Amino acid sequence: MASFLINGGHRLAGEHTLQGAKNSALPILAATVASGGECIIHRCPALTDVEATLNILRHLGCGVQREGNTITVDASSLQRGQIPEALMHEMRSSIVFLGPLLSALGRAELSAPGGCEIGMRPIDLHLEAMQALGVEIHQAAGRLFFRAEGGLRGGRLALSFPSVGATENLMIAAATAKGITVLTNAAREPEIVDLANFLNACGARILGAGGGTLLIEGVQKLHGAEHTVIPDRIAAVTYLSATAITQGELLLRGAAPAHMDAVLAVLEQTGCRLRRLPEGLHLRAPHRLHRLPTVRTMPYPGFPTDAQAGVMTLAAVGDGTSMITETIFENRFRHVSELRRMGASIRVEDRVAVVEGVPKLHGAQVDACDLRAGASLVVAGLAAEGDTRVCSIRHVDRGCEQLELGLSALGANIKREETDGEH
Ligand code: UD1
Repeated sequence: MASFLINGGHRLAGEHTLQGAKNSALPILAATVASGGECIIHRCPALTDVEATLNILRHLGCGVQREGNTITVDASSLQRGQIPEALMHEMRSSIVFLGPLLSALGRAELSAPGGCEIGMRPIDLHLEAMQALGVEIHQAAGRLFFRAEGGLRGGRLALSFPSVGATENLMIAAATAKGITVLTNAAREPEIVDLANFLNACGARILGAGGGTLLIEGVQKLHGAEHTVIPDRIAAVTYLSATAITQGELLLRGAAPAHMDAVLAVLEQTGCRLRRLPEGLHLRAPHRLHRLPTVRTMPYPGFPTDAQAGVMTLAAVGDGTSMITETIFENRFRHVSELRRMGASIRVEDRVAVVEGVPKLHGAQVDACDLRAGASLVVAGLAAEGDTRVCSIRHVDRGCEQLELGLSALGANIKREETDGEH
C-alpha cells in the first residue's frame, strides 16, 4: 500500500497553481446526467473520487472522455437508473446522483453511500428533499428505490440543517420539476453557487444560490453546457498551512480568497501576512505562529469543517493555547491521536479540542484516517524533526491532486512509497 515519507524541516517557498474544487466537480459531473446532452467540464482535478464519479457515469451508460483536466460527458446515451452497491460505497458523494437520475428518468435505485468515516453521515435530508418534490421512496434488501410517478413536481421545503449534499440534490431535481420550488435554510457554500451556475448554463432557472433561500422555476428540459469548476478552497488550506508551518512564502495561483474569508482571518491571526493579488493569494509566514483565535466549525460562510484538521496542525506548534470546536461532524478529531504521536499536546473533550502549542513536533508513523486529516498529517510532517511516514494515503488521494509533487516543487522533502504490509 502507498505511504508518504516526509523528511521535515524544509522551508516551503515558491508558487503553486490551485486544483479545481473536488466538492464542485463531483456534483457537477453527476448533474450532467440531468442535462441529457454533452457537457464539457474544465478544471476537474485528477482524484480518485473524480474517477469513482466517472465510473458511475460510465455504468449508467454515459459517454465519458478525459483530456487533462477537461472531462466531456455525453449523457444522451443514459441507460440505467441503478447504481450498484460497490460503486456507491467508493464515496459518500455518490448520493448526489439521486437528483440527476430522478430528473432524467423519474426513478433511481441506490444503496447507502460510503466515504470518509467521519461520523454518522445519514441521508434523511436528501430523502426529505426528494419527497418534497413528490418522490416515493421504499426500501428492500438494503437498497433504496425512488420513483416520481407522473414526474417531479415543485414544492416547498425548509431544511432543518443546511446540508450541502441535500441542497445539491434538490437543486438538480427541482430544475426540471413541474412548477416552482422554494428551499429555505439552503446551504450557501461556493460549490452550491458553482453548481447553480452550471445548471443555469444548461437551461435551468435557479435564483438565490449563495443565499439561504433558493427559488427554482422548473423547466421542461435541460441541455448540455461548458463549464469551468471553481478553485478548491480546501486544497488551498493544505498549501497555505504547509507554507505557514514551515515559515515559508507562497503564491497560490488561481485561489479565490472571497471563498475563504473565515480561514484567512484565522491565518492572519496566527501572524501570517496575506496579500490578495489579481493572480492569486500570497502568504508570508512568521518565524513562530501565534495561537489560533477560537475556531468553531460552521456551515458556510462560517469556518469550514474541512479546514479544521489543517489549522489544528498550526495550533499544535503555535505559541500558546488554542481551542477548536467541531460542530458539523461528530467524529472528526481522528487526526488528534496521530498528531499526539508526533509530540502534539492536544486534549479533546466532547467536540472541543484544546491544543497547547509545542515548539517542535517530531517524526513518527501515522495513519491518514480520513481525507482532510491525512492532508493535515502531511503538513505536520513537513515541520517535524526527522522522518514522518503517513500511511493509508489513499484517503489523501481522494481530495488532493498529486500532493507530493506540488509540495516537492515548493522545496519539501516528500516521496510516495509503495510498501508491503498494512500501510
Ligand atoms: C459536503 C462536503 C464535505 C464537507 C461537508 C460539510 C462534498 C462532496 N462534500 O459533504 O467535504 O465536509 O459538505 O461542509 O461536497 N446530515 C444529516 N442528514 C443528511 C445529510 C447530512 O444529518 O441527510 C448531517 C451530516 O451528518 C453532517 C451535516 O449534516 O453532520 C453536514 O452534512 P452535509 O452538509 O450534507 O455534508 P456533505 O454534503 O455530506
